[in-house]
Amino acid sequence: MFILSYLLLFASPFVAPQAIWNETSYPNVLEEQTQECKINGTQAPYLTCDPDEILTQTQRFELNDALKDLKNVTTSNGTECSNQGYIGVVLLARKIVNGTTKEAQKMANYFRDNWDFGRCDKGIIILMVTFYQQFYMACQPNVPLSDSDVNEIFEHNKDTLFNGNYFEGLSNVIKESKNKLTHQTGGTMTNRIIHVVRIAHRINRMAIPLTTML
Ligand SMILES: *[C@@H]1O[C@H](CO)[C@@H](O)[C@H](O)[C@H]1NC(C)=O
Ligand SMILES: *[C@@H]1O[C@H](CO)[C@@H](O)[C@H](O)[C@H]1NC(C)=O
Ligand SMILES: *[C@@H]1O[C@H](CO)[C@@H](O)[C@H](O)[C@H]1NC(C)=O
Ligand SMILES: *[C@@H]1O[C@H](CO)[C@@H](O)[C@H](O)[C@H]1NC(C)=O
Ligand SMILES: *[C@@H]1O[C@H](CO)[C@@H](O)[C@H](O)[C@H]1NC(C)=O
Repeated sequence: MFILSYLLLFASPFVAPQAIWNETSYPNVLEEQTQECKINGTQAPYLTCDPDEILTQTQRFELNDALKDLKNVTTSNGTECSNQGYIGVVLLARKIVNGTTKEAQKMANYFRDNWDFGRCDKGIIILMVTFYQQFYMACQPNVPLSDSDVNEIFEHNKDTLFNGNYFEGLSNVIKESKNKLTHQTGGTMTNRIIHVVRIAHRINRMAIPLTTML
């Protein structure tokens, strides 16, 4: 027992330090902190951040491509904000400060409110904190996903995510979000936007605390 403790004590300095992220230390992928986000080497836009390298590089690039595709397919040739697609970002972290559900919610909301998603308020923040098994989605005002939409997406994927299949789960979250959003685009935008904004404010206030597993 003594020897074991001794070895562990001496082994610890050689273990890579793990970052415990907070809302300001977590890299802003929209400001192209690509090195920190481990998404360098692919093409803009950069929409995936995985500073702790929870996914493989291939998986990160695939998620980034899926998010680019979401943005692209929801961009139409209109005026105002219909010519701006939805900007989804997938953010992974192993640990965050305090580790509470409240903190994860605070972080997702901070990114929603402080990162530059453009003037159209069409940002979608998907945050996965793996050590504490927390998943959060926060939407900006012009994202027409209701809280029941988000909960439905979460219910479909929570087993996959909490079994540690983050790539599979997050890919599917993007896919289902895209399905919902593409089915809601088109039609007369002017009427729809009013409706959307009203729903979205409700989402923002509630901030959708989805679950804590532990
Ligand atoms: C976040 O973490 C950084 C680096 O660890 C620290 O300098 C900063 O004060 C922290 N910010 C907050 C709001 O706690
Ligand atoms: C990506 O980041 C790694 C590690 O920081 C670095 O060695 C590599 O040169 C970077 N690649 C590009 C294309 O910037
Ligand atoms: C964006 O979508 C259009 C079709 O709507 C397609 O022609 C184009 O290749 C797509 N661009 C990217 C980068 O996926
Ligand atoms: C977009 O609209 C402009 C002007 O109305 C038109 O010239 C252009 O061909 C359209 N592009 C697409 C891809 O529909
Ligand atoms: C989170 O941790 C910081 C110090 O690390 C502390 O000041 C703060 O009160 C904690 N917040 C909560 C909600 O526990």
